Amino acid sequence: MKKYILGLGLFFILQLTCAQGTLSNEAARNMEITQKVDSVLSLMTLPEKIGQMNQYNGFWEVTGPTPKDGDAARKYEHLKAGLVGSMLNVRGTEEVEKLQKIVVEETRLGIPLIIGFDLMHGYKTISPIPLAEAASWDLDAIGNSAAVAAEEAAASGINWTFAPMIDISRDARWGRVMEGAGEDPYLGSKIAYARVKGFQGDDLAATNTIAACAKHFAGYGFSESGRDYNTVDVGTSTLYNTIFPPFMAAIDADVKTIMNSFNELNGIPATGNGFLQRSVLKEEWKFKGFVVSDWGSINEMINHGYAKDGKQAAELAVNAGSDMDMESYHYVKYLEGLVDSGAVDEALVNDAVKRILRVKFELGLFDDPFKYCDREREKQLIGSKKNMDAVLDMAKKSIVLLKNEGGLLPLQKSGLKIGLIGPLADDKDSPLGSWRLAADDNSAVSVLEGLKAYPGNAITHKQGVALTLEKPSFILETKINTTDRSGFEEAVQAARNQDVVIMVLGEHGFQTGEGRSRVSLDLPGLQQELLEAVYKVNKNIVLVLMNGRPLAINWADTNVPAIVEAWHLGTQSGHAIAQVLYGDYNPSGKLPMTFPKNVGQVPIYYNFKNTGRPTIPAPDLVFWSHYTDMDNDPLYPFGHGLSYSKFKYGDLKLSENRLIGEGKMEVSFTLTNIGKYEGKEVVQCYLRDLVASVTRPVKELKDFKMVSLKPGESREVIFTLDKSSLAFYSANNKWETEPGDFKVFVGGSSKTVLEGDFSYER
Ligand code: NOJ
Repeated sequence: MKKYILGLGLFFILQLTCAQGTLSNEAARNMEITQKVDSVLSLMTLPEKIGQMNQYNGFWEVTGPTPKDGDAARKYEHLKAGLVGSMLNVRGTEEVEKLQKIVVEETRLGIPLIIGFDLMHGYKTISPIPLAEAASWDLDAIGNSAAVAAEEAAASGINWTFAPMIDISRDARWGRVMEGAGEDPYLGSKIAYARVKGFQGDDLAATNTIAACAKHFAGYGFSESGRDYNTVDVGTSTLYNTIFPPFMAAIDADVKTIMNSFNELNGIPATGNGFLQRSVLKEEWKFKGFVVSDWGSINEMINHGYAKDGKQAAELAVNAGSDMDMESYHYVKYLEGLVDSGAVDEALVNDAVKRILRVKFELGLFDDPFKYCDREREKQLIGSKKNMDAVLDMAKKSIVLLKNEGGLLPLQKSGLKIGLIGPLADDKDSPLGSWRLAADDNSAVSVLEGLKAYPGNAITHKQGVALTLEKPSFILETKINTTDRSGFEEAVQAARNQDVVIMVLGEHGFQTGEGRSRVSLDLPGLQQELLEAVYKVNKNIVLVLMNGRPLAINWADTNVPAIVEAWHLGTQSGHAIAQVLYGDYNPSGKLPMTFPKNVGQVPIYYNFKNTGRPTIPAPDLVFWSHYTDMDNDPLYPFGHGLSYSKFKYGDLKLSENRLIGEGKMEVSFTLTNIGKYEGKEVVQCYLRDLVASVTRPVKELKDFKMVSLKPGESREVIFTLDKSSLAFYSANNKWETEPGDFKVFVGGSSKTVLEGDFSYER
């Protein structure tokens, strides 16, 4: 500690040369940090600078393939030599303190480590998977959920998270859709902003906030055929209009770091992609934070066929703007030689190090490297009532009622005989979802436990079939049971004499996430067979789905009267589901991703292009854009979600039918609750630009609001549009609004019910 204080003494003798009185507080603080960063940099040797650009994985948690030559002894040696700037997958005050102490006390300059961790949806108290949270469309709740995760993690030594994941994806086969906000760039941008603010708060130096990392830059969600890590080839319009907007929103929210992606983009791996990382991110968007490579992605450029060896990979990555090397070992091995030989300009190393030091200063790590290690707060926060309440609230808001016919839901609270059947009905682990590294196994409330909180009904529980063959884990393949039918008949018999059968089916939490692509979107294993067998003896089925991606549940939609999308809802899953089933919470979630009828329709998304042959020209003629064996429509469109109330949309009015220059236009309509329950509706406003310099989608979400109404109540809802609502990345390679004709649509899903026309003039 002594040495650390001596080292820091050098920075504190700095005088601020600017006339601070004339600067805003923020500008003055920025300038102060810039001067401190420059001062530290001036003290550093080249190896020390390169050390700041080196990030190692910790010693027990693994979230990627471990390098063959990686060993703990060398990592400790490098820590002591000042050759490590960051660690990931280290958690808990004790472990973090141990490592922080090494760098602070034993290295020449005592520069603290920044400690990164994947908090996709919570630290120990687990909130719904991000795709589920996105279904809430509730930006405050989503921001709060990120803040809860940040606060818990920040008390446990973590000061940086590799979240939010903001990759737009249209392909449900890709297992990582569970980590994102779905298919839409507008909703995705709003959520990206909310999550970054939630993690970082207003003051990054506060002890309950941490640095966020928007990932994966860029295009990772467009991997061919939904296979993880696969090639990405997209054109300029998709890149700018669909993939980039959430990253632009994250930068607007002042995100401190960005992670690049494993994929190649149009022939150049993102990690070695100077267009993405330098031209777009750092020059065009003026991103001031640092870029971290994804796990081993510098080394993977060799497999991509872009670098011939580790040395060239390091050269390409640093020149392209990857500031920190996660687990490739190539910067620490080769960068010094590359600078000495002139292959890499030291100015680029300096730039990377300054960016990294800046974030460390902003976190307050130089003032107190141990500030994120607070055993008392760690004890108080983890599993606290406050956090449990927050994730329960988020879980209820994330549930989507997909179908409700025949009045099965909400359930009456007494006098019913209920059969509870399915492999996920009493599972306390799977609802935690994927990416919940710090959570305790089996720490979720199961549906059975949730239902027991309502003792008025008699519950008969049978698993039916097992979903998995052995206990699934984050890093190993999940083995699905396709043969063992023990318990099957018993469950079917038990279903026979029930008033209602609740079937809890879907995917195991570890069937989604990284490295978990699927070619089928059906219910895995023997579950479809079980569902159909139960249906034969009892048609009063409420299907509760647990899944991390859209599924193709065509048969269920045709036959089962009520379907509740319950995703993987985290620690409080069972309580949230029970409260919705019993009507103590009226569901209001809306799908952030289209559900296909068949995997063959994927990628399927609401904001598609019209094509030159959109409609059938004459009966039976084949020459139009369609399938011969299924229609083009999804099973459930983007934005779909029911309530126990019913909402009527009417009386659409446009304040103008010509929007001119900088003017504004109001789109108003009346929403009426014509149901029997008080409820919330997410009302959605979409546009279509009819003719443009590059073709535009048939519909694009432009705004949404959440409206709560009592039975019989009506309200006028107003959306305000201006030219920014019409802007897109045009054929002139810039963001602009082109004059022309537009359509505006309003409704409770992307299958809208109201429609109007207007034009825009410059
Ligand atoms: C690889 C994943 O792609 C990335 O999202 C994650 O943050 C890192 N591993 C670290 O766990």
